[in-house]
Amino acid sequence: MSAQTPPHGGDVYHLARTLGIALSDLLDFSANINPLGFPPGIPRLIQEVLPEIVHYPDRRCLGLRQDLAAYHCLEPEQILVGNGSTELIYLAARALQPRQALIVAPAFSEYEHALNAAQVPVEFLVTREAQNFTLDQPPDPRAADLVFLANPASPSGMLLPPERLLATVAALDAAGVYLLLDEAFVDFVEEASFKGHLAQFPRVLILRSFTKFFGIPGMRLGYLLGDPELLVRLGENQEPWSVNTMAQAMGRHCLAEADYLARTRALIGQERDYLLTGLAALPGLKTFPSAVNYLLIKLTQPGWTAAKLQQAMLAHRIVIRDAANFRGLDERFFRIAVRARAENERLLRALQDCLITGEL
Ligand SMILES: Cc1ncc(COP(=O)(O)O)c(C=O)c1O
Repeated sequence: MSAQTPPHGGDVYHLARTLGIALSDLLDFSANINPLGFPPGIPRLIQEVLPEIVHYPDRRCLGLRQDLAAYHCLEPEQILVGNGSTELIYLAARALQPRQALIVAPAFSEYEHALNAAQVPVEFLVTREAQNFTLDQPPDPRAADLVFLANPASPSGMLLPPERLLATVAALDAAGVYLLLDEAFVDFVEEASFKGHLAQFPRVLILRSFTKFFGIPGMRLGYLLGDPELLVRLGENQEPWSVNTMAQAMGRHCLAEADYLARTRALIGQERDYLLTGLAALPGLKTFPSAVNYLLIKLTQPGWTAAKLQQAMLAHRIVIRDAANFRGLDERFFRIAVRARAENERLLRALQDCLITGEL
């Protein structure tokens, strides 16, 4: 059995087709989606909202922006909603038209694709393994007029210490540099969001996603938090109706699910510790600290590669993310999601089988 390495995690349709098996037969650890699934009440909500799809969606997403504003203690004018946060990455690259962009790497590959599509030259600042792949000092503000930085970092899951993040933002802002601060995973540690400082820094755009924390990647819903004037400029470059009626309603529903929010954060904290303990007992693995629902892991035995491990894990119907194609990592790195206990147990058993008895 073999399957090509997908460029992103979560490419389960392709893998299932390649392997000739049903989607439901795969256990996906390659995309970092809430193991609780979407919040309760969604099936009923779909029934309720269905009659509305005879109209075009509200292109201003006003109801959702009002709810988001209340949730984040901001104003609706500080929010721009998009068809997943990926749409907003492409929109920012296109609308800001920077002279030169800088990506703090390793990073989500769509930053680079979006900048290429907008014909913006790109440089990379590659963080070091010794720093757990996080920034140790602010990038040189002369290096670019748009910087992409993820906090929590991806794929390591590390948070920058708040004072280092603030110093980085302040240094870039003082030099007139725009910053796209990707907080796609910050919902797992909401207190680490930079949103409270937003008003001080008009060139900062905070990118947020509904898809990971609320388990709705197939629905496509994300948003930017930022300066109202800057968001108007971006909004003028956005395709109309990119956020459908169902997605808008689902976003509003998700925000009101306080019990689900609390259960998710508790589950992820507990299961991340469980996985880290289990992984520490396996041979040839180095893990990195994470604040979120995924773990970056390095194979330390000579000759072992993530590609071979990925193939071996597929025999167990488990998908892991080969992280070799992240700039700054190599063929020894892979990433796994934090899932529910029974699934995590299955992952650890399969990893043990591959690492101890298998041929990597
Ligand atoms: C760090 C990071 N940012 C943004 C995204 C885009 O997520 P979405 O478009 O589903 O909101 C991803 C998706 O994997 C990601 O890993």
